[in-house]
Amino acid sequence: MPTPSMLFVCLGNICRSPLAEGIYRHLTAGTSEKPLIASAGIGGWHVGNPPDRRSIKVAAAHGIDISHQRARQVQPSDFQNFDLVVAMDRSNLTRLQALEPATASAKLHLFSALAFGTQQDVPDPYYGEFTDFEAVYSMLFSGCSAVVSKFA
Ligand code: 4NP
Repeated sequence: MPTPSMLFVCLGNICRSPLAEGIYRHLTAGTSEKPLIASAGIGGWHVGNPPDRRSIKVAAAHGIDISHQRARQVQPSDFQNFDLVVAMDRSNLTRLQALEPATASAKLHLFSALAFGTQQDVPDPYYGEFTDFEAVYSMLFSGCSAVVSKFA
């Protein structure tokens, strides 16, 4: 199976999905295929902004630079341009289901369902502490690793 293109989606596109994008790109960097990997937010509050400084910091602590990424909002065309659209939590998934055009070709997944076969949310760390970002990093790293081996 060719490596699918992947859009990670969270609420603001500054905490969780930019981390997922950076981790997934890092884990697939050595492969010959170069599928499109991106992230977006349900909301538009942070459009054009870099990731939250705590996401940048936790990624950098693991050797991944996400500081160049910029937030953008999900668009209907995303459902044509990506093979997989991956929601960080069940609320994001419900919002994406409502936005999904009838002509969508992308498959919509909850991150934990795709990665682990579970129905867990990647918890929103925005109002949390740095330790919450570390926990999110850890969950995203193990989940992205599982997804990469699924498509390897
Ligand atoms: P994210 O976290 O969805 O992981 O990027 C959030 C970032 C910003 C807000 C909420 C969640 N906000 O309300 O501005």
